[in-house]
Amino acid sequence: MQEFWNQRYSLYDYGYGIKPNKFFKSQIDRLSPGKLILPGEGEGRNAVYAAKRGWEVTAVDFSVKAQVKANRLAVDHNVEINYIVDNLENAVLPEETYNAAALIYVQLDSQLFETVIDKVIKSLKDGGTFFMECYSEKQLGRRSGGPKSLNRLYSITQIQNLLDNMNISYLQEEEIMLQEGEFHQGKAMVIRGVATR
Ligand SMILES: C[S@@+](CC[C@H](N)C(=O)[O-])C[C@H]1O[C@@H](n2cnc3c(N)ncnc32)[C@H](O)[C@@H]1O
Repeated sequence: MQEFWNQRYSLYDYGYGIKPNKFFKSQIDRLSPGKLILPGEGEGRNAVYAAKRGWEVTAVDFSVKAQVKANRLAVDHNVEINYIVDNLENAVLPEETYNAAALIYVQLDSQLFETVIDKVIKSLKDGGTFFMECYSEKQLGRRSGGPKSLNRLYSITQIQNLLDNMNISYLQEEEIMLQEGEFHQGKAMVIRGVATR
């Protein structure tokens, strides 16, 4: 998978564009800046947006090509981000450290997804906010992006179970229009969630 992502980020300029994901923007705009962690952050569109709003951002992704482009984007916008190249499977996230954490289109196989959500929740301070947008199972067969296997697509029940120790304030499956770079284009079935620790 790492090779897949490095290739994708080598071939295209910014595969998901340089503007923040709309749901990410709507959520981060509601919060006061603090420490933010973005696992699977890719080319930095969300990290740079948050840094511009005063967040201290840590991004974790196993693609070195993505890191280079994210750091370039940060320089272009005169901000700094802390971008760690690591596999989320083994990455150690410091516990009770972040005020917010977001997973934006991080479509891992379900077992790894469970491990990552657990680590991400533990990395939040008490009262910290978690939010996510991902493709749902109903995205299978659509051409607007995302994995071609059900094991990396999620259901509301699955997410609800993973967030069962959190205070969920929003969890919905929605059809949205994606216009994000080359790879997220068209009507898509997604799950959006927000919860606090
Ligand atoms: C669809 S992209 C989304 C990127 C970014 N969150 C965004 O919305 O622009 C998924 C990202 O997850 C990263 N990723 C996938 N599996 C990973 C793993 N096991 N460890 C670290 N990063 C991973 C990929 O390198 C890729 O950048």
